[in-house]
Amino acid sequence: MNKRTVKENIYWMGSVDWDIRLFDSLIPLPDGTSYNAYFIKGSEKSVLIDTVDPSKADELLAQLEGISEIDYIISQHAEQDHSGAIPQVLEMYPAAKVISTPKAKGMLVDLLHIAEESFVTVEDGATISLGDKNLKFIHVPWVHWPETMVTYLEEDKILFSCDFFGSHIATTELYVTDEGRVYEAAKRYFAEIMMPFRGIIKKNLEKLSTYEIKMIAPSHGQLYPQPKLILDAYRDWTLASPKNKVVLPYVSMHNSTRKMVEYFVAALVDNGVQVELFNLAVTDIGKLAMALVDAATIVVGTPTVLAGPHPYAAYAVFLANALRPRINNLSIIGSYGWGGKTVETLGAMIPNIKAEIIEPVLCKGQPSEDDFKALKNLAAIIARKHKEQNLI
Ligand code: FEO
Repeated sequence: MNKRTVKENIYWMGSVDWDIRLFDSLIPLPDGTSYNAYFIKGSEKSVLIDTVDPSKADELLAQLEGISEIDYIISQHAEQDHSGAIPQVLEMYPAAKVISTPKAKGMLVDLLHIAEESFVTVEDGATISLGDKNLKFIHVPWVHWPETMVTYLEEDKILFSCDFFGSHIATTELYVTDEGRVYEAAKRYFAEIMMPFRGIIKKNLEKLSTYEIKMIAPSHGQLYPQPKLILDAYRDWTLASPKNKVVLPYVSMHNSTRKMVEYFVAALVDNGVQVELFNLAVTDIGKLAMALVDAATIVVGTPTVLAGPHPYAAYAVFLANALRPRINNLSIIGSYGWGGKTVETLGAMIPNIKAEIIEPVLCKGQPSEDDFKALKNLAAIIARKHKEQNLI
C-alpha cells in the first residue's frame, strides 16, 4: 500500500496485513490487521509516529522514499508490531531521535538493541514543536504494556493512540465505514489484551476526557473521524455492570457433558438468562474472550479425563483467569467415568477471578434424572443471583 493522506501534511503509512491469522502465536485475527504508522510534516520538523511489524518493514521504507528528513521517530509502545522497524528507519535517517517514555526506552534497548544515545525520553504531558504543529505526549500505562503513551496533535486535535482504541481489521478503507464491524473487532481486541487492566484503562480514559478529540488514529485498524463510537464503547466495557449472561465454554468426549450442557442452556433460557455457548473443540478463543467482557457468570462444562479437566477446558479457564473478567459467579458441570479431581484442579487455576463459586454439578457417566434436576436447580440459582445483583 502507498502512503495515504489523512490531512494536509499528515499521512498514514504502514502496512495492511491481510494474511495474519494469529498474533503473538495466541490471539486469533480472523480479519487480519494493519500496522499503522503516521508521518507528520511540520513547518520546521518532521516526525514518524510508530513503525510496523518487522515482517512489513520494506513496505514502510518504500513509503518513506522521497522524504529527505525525519527528525523524530515517536515510539508510543515498545511491542515489536509497532517498534520492530525502528532500526531500519534509523539506518535510513541516522540523525533522527527516538522519542519514548523513559520505561519504553529501556524496553526498546532490550528488545531491538537501539543505541541509548538515539533516545529522547518524554515525561507525561511533555510537548514538542514541529514549527506550526505541536505534539503532546500523554502516558497511558497498561494498555497493555507498562510503558505506553499516546500522542495528541494539538492544532488538529488528533489523538494517535497506538494499541488503545485499535482493532484488528485488514481493509483498504482508511476510516471507519462499518461501525458494527469495527465495534466487534475493537471489542475482541479490548477483551484479548486490555480487559486484565480495566481499572487502569478507566483512569486512562478519564485522563483523555480532558482533551477535545476530533479524530482517533490508532496503530491497528481504521481511523475514527467520529471518536464517540469507540470512546463510548470503551466506557461501556470498562465501567458498565456485567449483563444477565452466562458464558459456557465446554468440551465433550462421549456426549454426556454435551447432554448436560444442552439441558442446562435450556434451563437458563427458561429462567430468563442469556447464554453464550462455546464448544472448545471448535471455537474461536477470541469470541470467548469477547463474551467474557460483559458476562456475569462463567460455567465451565468438562468431562473428567486422565483424572482432571479436559485440557481444552483447562486452557479456557487458564485464559479466563489471565483475562480477569469482572464476573460475579462461577460453576462447573460435567461427566466423569470413575473419579478424579476436576473441580479441585480448575478451582486452583483461577486465583485472579474473585467470583462466588456455586456448587458444581458432576455426574457419573450419562446424566440421570437426578442430574438433570441438579442442573435445573443450578440454572435457577444463577437466575436468582443475577436478579439479586440487579443485572439486566
Ligand atoms: Fe499492537 Fe501491543 O502491540
